[in-house]
Amino acid sequence: MERLILILFILSETFFNIHAQSGTDVNAVLTKLFVTDGYNKKIRPIKNQSLPVDIPTEFVLNNIIEFDEQNEALKTAGYLFLYWKDEYLAWNPSDFGGVEIIFVPQDDIWKPDVTLANSFKTFTGLGSSFLNVRLLFDGTIFWYPFQVLESTCSVDITYFPFDIQSCDLKFTAWSYEKDDVDLNLGSNGISLKDYTPNNQWDVVSTSSNEINTGESAVNFTIKMKRKPNFYILNIVAPVILLSLLNAFTFVLPVASGERAGYSVTVFLSLAVFLTIVASEMPNNSENTSIFSVYLMTMTTFSTLIVMLTLVEVRLSIRTIPDQPINKFYQVLYKLSLLLQCNGCRTRDKVVPLQNKDENPKDDTDVDENVYDLPANWHDVLDSIDFLLFWFFVIVTVIVTTACMLAARNGGIK
Ligand SMILES: *[C@@H]1O[C@H](CO)[C@@H](O)[C@H](O)[C@H]1NC(C)=O
Ligand SMILES: *[C@@H]1O[C@H](CO)[C@@H](O)[C@H](O)[C@H]1NC(C)=O
Repeated sequence: MERLILILFILSETFFNIHAQSGTDVNAVLTKLFVTDGYNKKIRPIKNQSLPVDIPTEFVLNNIIEFDEQNEALKTAGYLFLYWKDEYLAWNPSDFGGVEIIFVPQDDIWKPDVTLANSFKTFTGLGSSFLNVRLLFDGTIFWYPFQVLESTCSVDITYFPFDIQSCDLKFTAWSYEKDDVDLNLGSNGISLKDYTPNNQWDVVSTSSNEINTGESAVNFTIKMKRKPNFYILNIVAPVILLSLLNAFTFVLPVASGERAGYSVTVFLSLAVFLTIVASEMPNNSENTSIFSVYLMTMTTFSTLIVMLTLVEVRLSIRTIPDQPINKFYQVLYKLSLLLQCNGCRTRDKVVPLQNKDENPKDDTDVDENVYDLPANWHDVLDSIDFLLFWFFVIVTVIVTTACMLAARNGGIK
């Protein structure tokens, strides 16, 4: 039955020859329906009032105008396509010169008070009074109210910028129960036949379902995926580059006197991105994005690096006789030597001059201990720089890779 009506609708313009109708005949039909029969638009259009009016519904999405993540609102343009049978609006075409189809203003007939239930701003009926409905001689009415819809849509930002958002559009015949008006799904659910692509969001899939709680409502779901390139180029890539610069603080010699300034600059740049990202994200604490966590981790590293740098600057003004190099720094120095594999190289097997003078007799023990000891604080600083540089490079690469993979893979699912 639904299929048949749909086919009739599609054919209506060609099949029912509107152009063969004369104005006088159409006027006669209108007079019969609205004057002679005394049509009352307050009556539910079914003669047996214990039966529901069956209204198949389809949503045609024209475009996604805007998705406001911060306010969690989706603005779309589209129209509903609804049809039903009004038993009080039927006529016999052969009595009226073959008139089969007429147009009447939507406010002149009974129609369900369909509204967008999860509306973000206004709560109004669909369509406007200037729209017409198409009326077939057997009483079938085709109504396709166009509307710019603003719906609420809760945002899940976890996988930003690879996130997929799922937004519902719930339409309900507000005053009616399912027993009065049966709003149900037409054959198509959401149709994308008139869809114009959006430059920020791709529609991945759509679905629709009826709500079976006695409420007369249908639910259309649009799943959309962010196009990530803009955010990768403008936010993600700069942050990753800054994180690498962070580690390179330890390449700059302490003696240059610019190291503290450099590390603070990197810290401030990261802080700027923290602000930018915060302004892009919805102000909710329900879910945190992996990228925010990454950015926060990098800012924490940066803070650590600033602190370590300041400590190193302080160490750099120490002198040997006054402040001897204690065990802790000796261990760091040895560790650094070990990692640099200095012991494997023959050219390093030169006994430091100063030690030779002090212990000229211990020639045999010398290769075990003596050249493993730092000669001055400068050596200690070099080894600390070496260790910290590689530590931060490796940790940054690991954390970056892990976060990006997590966001990417999570977003794909
Ligand atoms: C109206 O419909 C109900 C439910 O199908 C049926 O029981 C009843 O007999 C019908 N009434 C009339 C007047 O046809
Ligand atoms: C609408 O449908 C979606 C997907 O099937 C579902 O997750 C959501 O809960 C439904 N919304 C309502 C109001 O039933």
